[in-house]
Amino acid sequence: MPLSKRSTLTQFLIEERRRFPDARGDFNALLLDVALACKAIARAVAFGELGGVLGNQNGDSGGSVNVQGETQKKLDVLSNDLFTRLNEWGGHLAGMASEEMDLPYQIPGKHPRGKYLLVFDPLDGSSNIDVNVSVGSIFSVLRAPEDVVKSGRDVTEADFFQPGTEQVAAGYALYGPTTMLVLTVGNGVNGFTLEPNLGEFMLTHPKMQIPADTQEFAINASNSRFWEAPIKRYVDECMAGKTGARGKDFNMRWIASMVAEAHRILMRGGVFMYPKDTKDPTKPGRLRLLYEANPVGLIMEQAGGRASTGRQPMLTVQPTSLHQRIGLIFGSKNEVERIERYHAEPAKVQDDNPLFHERGLFRV
Ligand code: AHG
Ligand code: MN
Ligand code: MN
Repeated sequence: MPLSKRSTLTQFLIEERRRFPDARGDFNALLLDVALACKAIARAVAFGELGGVLGNQNGDSGGSVNVQGETQKKLDVLSNDLFTRLNEWGGHLAGMASEEMDLPYQIPGKHPRGKYLLVFDPLDGSSNIDVNVSVGSIFSVLRAPEDVVKSGRDVTEADFFQPGTEQVAAGYALYGPTTMLVLTVGNGVNGFTLEPNLGEFMLTHPKMQIPADTQEFAINASNSRFWEAPIKRYVDECMAGKTGARGKDFNMRWIASMVAEAHRILMRGGVFMYPKDTKDPTKPGRLRLLYEANPVGLIMEQAGGRASTGRQPMLTVQPTSLHQRIGLIFGSKNEVERIERYHAEPAKVQDDNPLFHERGLFRV
């Protein structure tokens, strides 16, 4: 299809905005600022060593460590700076929060403040940067609380503690063989490919839908000894393939860039699991709720897939801290629902057994 026949991201957003006649255009302008940050990161990723962006922040002396306790890559810091600098001045945001910043980011006094909150993982899959494997950025847009917008006060962590259902937009950029932006504004999922000469995101994947079934699963199998029983059962059944309960063979993938896994799953189906495990009792999972699980979860649900903790739909979880971690399962609806059933069964067994009732011998 010739370029002239394709919509740009700007055109797409303007057409979407027609659904809200009284919209002033703030929302679209914010999303275009986010898209610009992703384009700038795509350029830095593409130049790699030529741009001096590989390796750890502060050299190889262990590098700097972020609030997550993880070594920061130069590109983590650069990507975070690009997100804050390209989004702080537009007047659409009341504040921001990032994987790379311990506290919420206050919009500098010289800039007007707006009615949205932007939450982001500026570079997802950082461990892959130095080995030239696809990485991405993840973003989520929330409405700022009424009193924040009215008073113009600084934001607090609690202003961000909104369940994933409150997101008004979410998406990711994937810096792979092509740079893509995948976005939902609550009306399905659409994919845009960056035309590098124009510097425009062109609509190439309209109305993306995830196949409900799959034969491909993604999990970091080196953690298997830390998994809970329902995950062990599910993965064992996939590994047993035709010879086991599933009666079909499965394939396994693990890229260690969640954005890349999410995109593969969006395109051809699959299930991704980074479940709650016992590896580190202080961390009920590896991935972060506000800027990884919720935005990707909304994309999945909007594309007809499902996102879950295993015990409840991801988007219903009430956040309690800015960088809280959570077990995350997402992808083809029928597979995620099967995993949720496996998580429910032990409770079901207990429910059927008088020993575990309120008046039974054991308090559950
Ligand atoms: P980030 O680079 O933002 O810290 O995220 C990396 C995440 C996610 O993208 C990926 O699925 C997971 O970490 C990989 O974890 P392991 O290295 O434990 O496999
Ligand atoms: Mn990440
Ligand atoms: Mn990150």
